[in-house]
Amino acid sequence: MAIELAINGAKRDADALAIKAHLFGRPGVHATNRTDTLGFPYNQRWSMFVWSWLFNNNARFEPNTAQSPQWNRGAYLADALAHCGECHTPRNLAFALNNRKKFAGATTHTRQRHWHRRLERR
Ligand code: HEC
Repeated sequence: MAIELAINGAKRDADALAIKAHLFGRPGVHATNRTDTLGFPYNQRWSMFVWSWLFNNNARFEPNTAQSPQWNRGAYLADALAHCGECHTPRNLAFALNNRKKFAGATTHTRQRHWHRRLERR
């Protein structure tokens, strides 16, 4: 089927490897890692497996056969490659993406709200 040909596993891997090649081709930057400033319990990285188990379904992109190849190409670019929803989809109380409001826009921290407008006023 045309959709499977357009977005198959080999293509996804080739796109990811092209991005890796680009990033690895950039000049290196040497900087000291900043120390973790999160307090307990948020500094317990091991606990992320619970969050990941609840909210990260660890599934590869699957084309929606009810949609056109063009629609699926866009979904592949926005979801699988660029993860646009990470910033443009609101989050729930556990800070997981609320995909019932996918791409509805999001402000993740009140201090960041309209930060760009404050810069524009200067
Ligand atoms: C790391 C967070 C992040 C990701 C990932 C991200 N964006 Fe954004 N996007 C922003 C922010 C922040 C702004 C606002 C920038 C500004 O106004 O200066 C923005 C602005 C935009 C705007 C302009 C909105 C407007 O009303 O002017 C569009 C369109 C957009 N993003 C699309 C995308 C697409 C498509 C992707 C994926 C390819 C994407 N974004 C991924 C953070 C992100």
